[in-house]
Amino acid sequence: MTRKTNRRALVVGGVAIVLVLGVLLSSALAQRRFGPPRATREGDAQLEKPPVPKDANEKKVLEILENIRATQSYRNVPPEDGRLLRLLAESMNAQNIIEVGASTGYSAIWMGLALQKTGGKMTTYEIDAGRAAIARANFERAGMADIITLVEGDAHEEVKSLKDPIDIIFLDADKQGYIDYLDKLLPLVRPGGLVIAHNITPRMADPDYMKAITTNPNLETIVRGGVGLTLKKH
Ligand SMILES: C[S@@+](CC[C@H](N)C(=O)[O-])C[C@H]1O[C@@H](n2cnc3c(N)ncnc32)[C@H](O)[C@@H]1O
Repeated sequence: MTRKTNRRALVVGGVAIVLVLGVLLSSALAQRRFGPPRATREGDAQLEKPPVPKDANEKKVLEILENIRATQSYRNVPPEDGRLLRLLAESMNAQNIIEVGASTGYSAIWMGLALQKTGGKMTTYEIDAGRAAIARANFERAGMADIITLVEGDAHEEVKSLKDPIDIIFLDADKQGYIDYLDKLLPLVRPGGLVIAHNITPRMADPDYMKAITTNPNLETIVRGGVGLTLKKH
């Protein structure tokens, strides 16, 4: 091997090392900024077990949720997020939930399980007429048509008419719109209420929304597995 070839090999090796270090450093910085990656959920999944229904109604609703996932190919939250929503709603005795982005009603039905126990209600918004029709049918067969109201239309406009105090806002629609929904609805969230936002990942989160929920002293925000959980402090 000539001295010239040796030098070229050294240069190529040096560039490769710098590139690898750059990638490692930027991912470490991203982790410091945004917390652990979604992959840490795999550990949770090893410990969690499927829900155990307490009564015939819960069994029926869980079967409907399974059926929606198996037969309807729309983008819904994963079951573990649905379970989290139900758990939070039931534990805080939620009386009024606002969901932005119903799609076919999967996440709403998870929260509906809680509302059947708390005696609360939900309003959910969907801009797509086809998905709205499927969601209504799903609420009907889950026995929740009386507690979940679906408003068809652009939620940016429709939420303006809301007046009642809100326990939980669940944002799962246009990501760039989260900041507008927050501006319009946060004044209605009761102290101790939650704003829960889906798809809060380094790639998808809107910087304006992130700034608003992480710099306001009246709010406490954590992000877990792509879900942003924001408490409106007492
Ligand atoms: C990811 S899907 C919601 C999934 C649903 N939360 C679930 O888990 O079953 C997002 C939905 O938001 C709806 N959407 C988007 N922009 C909207 C708007 N401005 N007003 C109301 N709905 C909107 C879309 O049509 C879509 O069905």
